[in-house]
Amino acid sequence: MPNDKPKPLLRALSGEALTPPPWWLMRQAGRYLPEYLAIRAKARDFVEMCLTPAIAAELTLQPVRRYHMDGAILFSDILMLPHALGQKLSFREGEGPVLKPIESHADMRQLEPRQAASRLEPVFEAIQRVAEALDPHTALIGFAGSPWTVATYMVEGGVSKDFRRVKSWAYGDAEGFSALIDLLVEGTVEFLTAQMAAGAEVVQLFDSWAGILPEPAFARWVIEPTKRIASALKRRFPDHPIIGFPRGAGLLYERYVTETGVEGVGLDALVPAGYAHAQLQPLATVQGNLDPVVLLVGGAALETSVRELCRTLDGGPFIFNLGHGVLPETPLENVAALANLIARANNIE
Ligand code: CP3
Repeated sequence: MPNDKPKPLLRALSGEALTPPPWWLMRQAGRYLPEYLAIRAKARDFVEMCLTPAIAAELTLQPVRRYHMDGAILFSDILMLPHALGQKLSFREGEGPVLKPIESHADMRQLEPRQAASRLEPVFEAIQRVAEALDPHTALIGFAGSPWTVATYMVEGGVSKDFRRVKSWAYGDAEGFSALIDLLVEGTVEFLTAQMAAGAEVVQLFDSWAGILPEPAFARWVIEPTKRIASALKRRFPDHPIIGFPRGAGLLYERYVTETGVEGVGLDALVPAGYAHAQLQPLATVQGNLDPVVLLVGGAALETSVRELCRTLDGGPFIFNLGHGVLPETPLENVAALANLIARANNIE
């Protein structure tokens, strides 16, 4: 039954408007869950957790066991690709990721693209384990960072305030920088193809830093690479939908959707729901975009926001999500309340 798509998340991505909408949350696995913290406390480090199939599979399933989301997102990180390319990665307490920066075309010699696929083998094994354990209603979501966002971490060496190094390279030596982007396009296509072969039914491209580029640079470093990845994946897996999340794209969301050919588009919390309904839903399935702080606060604020969002977007293809990841301080009962509110979204007028 190749075209049979009984899972609500996949039905929404093929353009159906569903009430209630399917839902999942970015960063649904992680520090707000006590069962995650228990495993994290015993593990030696974060990278090793991501590369141990039994642990990555268990962490993927934890939130779904509790809240029955319509999607289970693989537990991993967008920085596993640079790690597999040979760029040393560590996570320091309270500091986030740390990488030895690559700042020029010459520095790229340190990378080992041929080794990447075999180093990522544990990720594919984790996907196989999840696929076997998942209930038939839940879709398995694979993911990668988009080349631009991954490049920001590779060049800055971690989190950045002004992205001075990566922008300087992109603006000052576009040809040299495009060699890094090309390498990441190829690596990402290979990475996501293997995730699909292992059992991922949909993939999301996280472009967390898409919103820091002016239009011409956005077209070159965000839209073009995404379009190339999407068309390469389509050749191998024509029925597997792709969700693009160009966070902060603002006025460029529409151009992103039209030109990349993604089936779904993730919206950050600043995109007005009315705009998303009128301009984006005719082009793609929209996913989003509750402010993660509203989920943290809960109560009446949560109730009002969920109702408004569902009322505006329920008429078209829609997947409920946050506008960015779940915050670590989020109370468990607020996520349970959210699940109930979404389930009742059609009859809470
Ligand atoms: O969504 C999920 O539950 C799946 C797992 C997932 C993680 N990271 C686990 C993680 C996903 C999809 C990501 C994506 C990711 N990673 C992005 C894109 C989304 C976004 O948030 O913008 C980015 C930019 C990264 C890179 C990254 N990983 C940073 C900057 C940090 C440190 C800051 C932070 O939020 O902790 C991480 C660490 C990380 N990735 C943790 C988890 C659960 C926390 C690790 C810990 O327990 O200390």
